[in-house]
Amino acid sequence: MLADDLRLGLDPTFFAQEALDFHPDDWQAQALRWSGKRLLLNCCRQSGKSTTAAILALHRALYYPQSLVLLVSPSLRQSSELFRKVTDMLARLEVRPRLLEDNRLSFTLDNGARVVSLPSSEATIRGFSGADLIVEDEAARVPDDLYMAVRPMLAVSGGRLILMSTPWGKRGHFHQEWTQGGNTWERVEIKAPQCPRISPEFLEEERASLGDWWFRQEYMCEFVETVDQVFGYELVMGALSQEVEPLFLEEENNG
Ligand SMILES: Nc1ncnc2c1ncn2[C@@H]1O[C@H](COP(=O)(O)OP(=O)(O)OP(=O)(O)O)[C@@H](O)[C@H]1O
Ligand SMILES: [Mg+2]
Repeated sequence: MLADDLRLGLDPTFFAQEALDFHPDDWQAQALRWSGKRLLLNCCRQSGKSTTAAILALHRALYYPQSLVLLVSPSLRQSSELFRKVTDMLARLEVRPRLLEDNRLSFTLDNGARVVSLPSSEATIRGFSGADLIVEDEAARVPDDLYMAVRPMLAVSGGRLILMSTPWGKRGHFHQEWTQGGNTWERVEIKAPQCPRISPEFLEEERASLGDWWFRQEYMCEFVETVDQVFGYELVMGALSQEVEPLFLEEENNG
Protein backbone atom coordinates (compact mmCIF):
# COMPACT_ATOMS: atom_id res chain seq x y z
CA MET A 1 0.00 0.00 0.00
CA LEU A 2 1.30 3.42 -0.91
CA ALA A 3 0.57 4.89 2.54
CA ASP A 4 2.52 2.08 4.21
CA ASP A 5 5.44 2.48 1.80
CA LEU A 6 5.54 6.16 2.56
CA ARG A 7 5.45 5.51 6.28
CA LEU A 8 8.27 2.95 6.02
CA GLY A 9 10.43 5.63 4.46
CA LEU A 10 9.48 8.34 6.89
CA ASP A 11 9.40 6.40 10.14
CA PRO A 12 12.35 4.10 10.96
CA THR A 13 10.48 2.70 13.98
CA PHE A 14 7.64 1.54 11.76
CA PHE A 15 10.26 0.23 9.30
CA ALA A 16 11.93 -1.77 12.12
CA GLN A 17 8.63 -3.33 13.15
CA GLU A 18 7.08 -3.96 9.78
CA ALA A 19 10.01 -4.65 7.46
CA LEU A 20 12.50 -6.20 9.92
CA ASP A 21 10.16 -7.77 12.46
CA PHE A 22 12.23 -6.04 15.13
CA HIS A 23 10.38 -4.60 18.09
CA PRO A 24 12.32 -1.74 19.62
CA ASP A 25 12.33 -0.82 23.30
CA ASP A 26 10.99 2.67 24.03
CA TRP A 27 14.43 4.29 23.95
CA GLN A 28 15.30 2.49 20.72
CA ALA A 29 12.07 3.71 19.16
CA GLN A 30 12.94 7.21 20.34
CA ALA A 31 16.43 6.98 18.81
CA LEU A 32 15.06 5.57 15.56
CA ARG A 33 12.41 8.26 15.28
CA TRP A 34 14.66 11.10 16.39
CA SER A 35 14.85 13.91 13.86
CA GLY A 36 17.52 16.19 15.39
CA LYS A 37 21.16 16.58 14.43
CA ARG A 38 23.14 15.51 17.52
CA LEU A 39 22.24 12.58 19.74
CA LEU A 40 24.06 11.07 22.73
CA LEU A 41 23.06 7.61 23.92
CA ASN A 42 24.59 6.60 27.23
CA CYS A 43 23.25 3.06 27.47
CA CYS A 44 24.34 0.05 29.44
CA ARG A 45 25.99 -3.09 28.08
CA GLN A 46 23.78 -5.27 25.93
CA SER A 47 20.93 -2.77 25.88
CA GLY A 48 20.82 -2.83 22.08
CA LYS A 49 23.00 0.09 20.97
CA SER A 50 24.69 -1.58 18.02
CA THR A 51 21.42 -3.09 16.80
CA THR A 52 19.79 0.35 16.88
CA ALA A 53 22.76 1.84 15.01
CA ALA A 54 22.50 -0.89 12.38
CA ILE A 55 18.79 -0.24 11.77
CA LEU A 56 19.33 3.51 11.53
CA ALA A 57 22.13 2.97 9.04
CA LEU A 58 20.10 0.59 6.89
CA HIS A 59 17.02 2.80 6.91
CA ARG A 60 19.01 5.84 5.85
CA ALA A 61 20.67 3.99 2.99
CA LEU A 62 17.44 2.44 1.72
CA TYR A 63 15.35 5.58 1.69
CA TYR A 64 17.89 8.32 0.92
CA PRO A 65 19.47 7.71 -2.51
CA GLN A 66 23.15 8.64 -2.81
CA SER A 67 23.47 9.04 0.94
CA LEU A 68 26.63 8.19 2.83
CA VAL A 69 26.38 6.54 6.25
CA LEU A 70 29.55 6.11 8.28
CA LEU A 71 29.76 3.75 11.24
CA VAL A 72 32.80 4.37 13.40
CA SER A 73 34.05 1.82 15.93
CA PRO A 74 37.14 1.63 18.15
CA SER A 75 38.65 -1.42 16.43
CA LEU A 76 38.53 -3.49 13.25
CA ARG A 77 36.85 -6.34 15.11
CA GLN A 78 34.07 -4.07 16.38
CA SER A 79 33.61 -2.49 12.92
CA SER A 80 33.19 -5.93 11.39
CA GLU A 81 30.68 -6.93 14.04
CA LEU A 82 28.66 -3.78 13.60
CA PHE A 83 28.70 -4.16 9.86
CA ARG A 84 27.48 -7.73 10.19
CA LYS A 85 24.52 -6.43 12.19
CA VAL A 86 23.65 -4.14 9.26
CA THR A 87 23.85 -6.96 6.72
CA ASP A 88 21.83 -9.23 9.03
CA MET A 89 19.12 -6.58 9.04
CA LEU A 90 19.34 -6.23 5.27
CA ALA A 91 18.85 -9.99 4.95
CA ARG A 92 15.58 -9.75 6.87
CA LEU A 93 13.96 -7.64 4.14
CA GLU A 94 11.38 -9.43 2.04
CA VAL A 95 12.44 -7.49 -1.03
CA ARG A 96 16.15 -6.80 -0.96
CA PRO A 97 17.80 -4.09 -3.04
CA ARG A 98 20.58 -4.98 -5.45
CA LEU A 99 24.07 -4.40 -4.10
CA LEU A 100 26.48 -2.63 -6.44
CA GLU A 101 29.36 -3.28 -4.10
CA ASP A 102 29.62 -5.54 -1.08
CA ASN A 103 32.72 -5.86 1.08
CA ARG A 104 33.44 -7.03 4.55
CA LEU A 105 33.06 -3.45 5.83
CA SER A 106 30.88 -1.63 3.32
CA PHE A 107 28.14 -1.92 0.72
CA THR A 108 26.61 0.29 -1.96
CA LEU A 109 22.93 -0.11 -2.81
CA ASP A 110 21.53 0.28 -6.31
CA ASN A 111 20.17 3.70 -5.31
CA GLY A 112 23.79 4.86 -4.87
CA ALA A 113 23.63 5.00 -1.06
CA ARG A 114 26.61 3.64 0.83
CA VAL A 115 27.09 2.25 4.33
CA VAL A 116 30.71 2.14 5.43
CA SER A 117 31.88 0.74 8.74
CA LEU A 118 35.26 2.15 9.70
CA PRO A 119 37.81 0.94 12.20
CA SER A 120 39.45 3.48 14.43
CA SER A 121 41.96 5.10 12.12
CA GLU A 122 42.16 8.75 11.25
CA ALA A 123 43.75 7.93 7.87
CA THR A 124 40.76 5.86 6.68
CA ILE A 125 38.29 8.51 7.85
CA ARG A 126 39.92 11.35 5.95
CA GLY A 127 39.03 9.80 2.58
CA PHE A 128 35.32 10.50 3.05
CA SER A 129 33.31 13.68 2.81
CA GLY A 130 29.71 14.78 2.99
CA ALA A 131 28.33 12.17 5.37
CA ASP A 132 24.55 12.21 5.93
CA LEU A 133 24.72 10.15 9.10
CA ILE A 134 27.67 9.28 11.31
CA VAL A 135 27.25 6.82 14.15
CA GLU A 136 30.06 6.28 16.60
CA ASP A 137 29.53 3.00 18.40
CA GLU A 138 31.42 2.52 21.72
CA ALA A 139 32.20 6.24 21.43
CA ALA A 140 33.94 6.41 24.82
CA ARG A 141 36.68 4.19 23.40
CA VAL A 142 37.02 5.95 20.04
CA PRO A 143 40.13 8.17 20.16
CA ASP A 144 39.52 11.92 20.34
CA ASP A 145 41.62 12.68 17.23
CA LEU A 146 39.31 10.44 15.24
CA TYR A 147 36.28 12.31 16.53
CA MET A 148 37.93 15.58 15.51
CA ALA A 149 38.53 14.17 12.03
CA VAL A 150 34.93 12.98 11.71
CA ARG A 151 33.05 16.14 12.67
CA PRO A 152 34.04 18.32 9.66
CA MET A 153 32.42 15.79 7.34
CA LEU A 154 29.07 17.08 8.52
CA ALA A 155 29.88 20.70 7.72
CA VAL A 156 28.61 20.84 4.15
CA SER A 157 26.09 17.98 4.23
CA GLY A 158 24.39 19.22 7.41
CA GLY A 159 24.40 15.55 8.40
CA ARG A 160 23.50 13.95 11.70
CA LEU A 161 25.81 12.64 14.38
CA ILE A 162 25.08 10.01 17.01
CA LEU A 163 27.49 8.96 19.74
CA MET A 164 26.47 5.79 21.54
CA SER A 165 28.41 4.16 24.34
CA THR A 166 28.75 2.94 27.85
CA PRO A 167 30.94 5.37 29.83
CA TRP A 168 34.65 4.77 30.21
CA GLY A 169 35.84 7.08 32.95
CA LYS A 170 35.70 10.86 33.10
CA ARG A 171 37.73 11.47 29.97
CA GLY A 172 37.50 11.79 26.22
CA HIS A 173 34.95 13.34 23.89
CA PHE A 174 31.99 11.16 24.91
CA HIS A 175 32.29 12.30 28.53
CA GLN A 176 32.99 15.88 27.40
CA GLU A 177 29.90 16.07 25.17
CA TRP A 178 27.71 14.34 27.76
CA THR A 179 28.68 16.68 30.59
CA GLN A 180 29.57 19.92 28.80
CA GLY A 181 28.39 19.61 25.21
CA GLY A 182 25.50 22.02 25.77
CA ASN A 183 21.98 21.78 24.46
CA THR A 184 22.81 21.12 20.82
CA TRP A 185 22.79 17.48 21.98
CA GLU A 186 19.82 15.39 22.91
CA ARG A 187 20.77 12.92 25.66
CA VAL A 188 19.30 9.51 26.42
CA GLU A 189 20.44 7.38 29.36
CA ILE A 190 19.40 3.73 29.80
CA LYS A 191 20.53 1.84 32.89
CA ALA A 192 20.41 -1.95 33.00
CA PRO A 193 17.29 -2.22 35.21
CA GLN A 194 15.41 -0.37 32.44
CA CYS A 195 16.32 -3.03 29.88
CA PRO A 196 13.58 -5.68 29.68
CA ARG A 197 16.04 -8.40 28.63
CA ILE A 198 18.36 -8.06 31.65
CA SER A 199 17.05 -9.75 34.79
CA PRO A 200 17.57 -8.42 38.34
CA GLU A 201 19.14 -11.79 39.27
CA PHE A 202 21.74 -11.47 36.53
CA LEU A 203 22.54 -7.93 37.64
CA GLU A 204 23.07 -9.02 41.23
CA GLU A 205 25.43 -11.72 40.06
CA GLU A 206 27.33 -9.19 37.93
CA ARG A 207 27.63 -6.73 40.80
CA ALA A 208 29.05 -9.47 43.00
CA SER A 209 31.59 -10.69 40.49
CA LEU A 210 32.60 -7.43 38.76
CA GLY A 211 32.76 -5.23 41.84
CA ASP A 212 31.05 -1.91 42.38
CA TRP A 213 33.31 0.25 40.19
CA TRP A 214 32.99 -1.82 37.06
CA PHE A 215 29.31 -2.54 37.65
CA ARG A 216 28.45 1.16 37.90
CA GLN A 217 30.24 1.86 34.64
CA GLU A 218 28.99 -1.09 32.59
CA TYR A 219 25.43 -1.31 33.85
CA MET A 220 24.51 1.96 35.56
CA CYS A 221 25.85 4.45 32.95
CA GLU A 222 28.11 6.21 35.48
CA PHE A 223 31.23 8.05 34.48
CA VAL A 224 33.31 6.72 37.35
CA GLU A 225 36.91 7.81 37.82
CA THR A 226 39.37 5.82 35.70
CA VAL A 227 41.51 3.42 37.71
CA ASP A 228 44.71 5.17 36.61
CA GLN A 229 43.50 8.70 37.40
CA VAL A 230 45.65 9.98 40.28
CA PHE A 231 43.60 13.12 40.84
CA GLY A 232 39.80 13.00 40.54
CA TYR A 233 38.07 14.90 37.70
CA GLU A 234 36.14 17.21 40.06
CA LEU A 235 39.32 17.93 42.02
CA VAL A 236 41.21 18.98 38.88
CA MET A 237 38.32 21.05 37.48
CA GLY A 238 37.82 22.68 40.88
CA ALA A 239 41.48 23.68 40.96
CA LEU A 240 41.22 25.59 37.66
CA SER A 241 40.65 29.30 38.01
CA GLN A 242 39.97 32.08 35.49
CA GLU A 243 41.30 34.63 37.92
CA VAL A 244 44.89 33.49 38.14
CA GLU A 245 47.30 35.09 35.61
CA PRO A 246 49.33 32.52 33.65
CA LEU A 247 53.00 32.41 34.67
CA PHE A 248 54.16 32.66 31.05
CA LEU A 249 52.51 34.48 28.18
CA GLU A 250 51.88 32.50 25.00
CA GLU A 251 54.41 34.54 22.91
CA GLU A 252 57.11 33.74 25.44
CA ASN A 253 56.22 30.05 25.19
CA ASN A 254 56.43 30.14 21.42
CA GLY A 255 59.51 32.30 21.18
N1 LIG B 1 14.42 -4.50 21.06
C1 LIG B 1 15.04 -5.68 21.11
N2 LIG B 1 14.32 -6.82 21.13
C2 LIG B 1 14.91 -8.04 21.19
N3 LIG B 1 16.24 -8.22 21.26
C3 LIG B 1 17.03 -7.11 21.24
C4 LIG B 1 16.47 -5.80 21.17
N4 LIG B 1 17.49 -4.90 21.17
C5 LIG B 1 18.62 -5.63 21.24
N5 LIG B 1 18.35 -6.95 21.28
C6 LIG B 1 19.31 -8.06 21.40
O1 LIG B 1 20.13 -7.81 22.54
C7 LIG B 1 21.47 -8.24 22.29
C8 LIG B 1 22.42 -7.06 22.51
O2 LIG B 1 22.22 -6.12 21.48
P1 LIG B 1 23.41 -5.18 20.96
O3 LIG B 1 24.59 -5.97 20.58
O4 LIG B 1 22.80 -4.27 19.95
O5 LIG B 1 23.68 -4.37 22.31
P2 LIG B 1 24.86 -3.37 22.70
O6 LIG B 1 24.26 -2.35 23.60
O7 LIG B 1 25.53 -2.89 21.46
O8 LIG B 1 25.82 -4.34 23.53
P3 LIG B 1 27.37 -4.14 23.92
O9 LIG B 1 27.36 -3.07 24.98
O10 LIG B 1 27.79 -5.47 24.44
O11 LIG B 1 28.07 -3.70 22.65
C9 LIG B 1 21.49 -8.79 20.88
O12 LIG B 1 21.33 -10.18 20.94
C10 LIG B 1 20.28 -8.13 20.22
O13 LIG B 1 19.76 -8.90 19.17
MG1 LIG C 1 27.53 -2.91 20.84
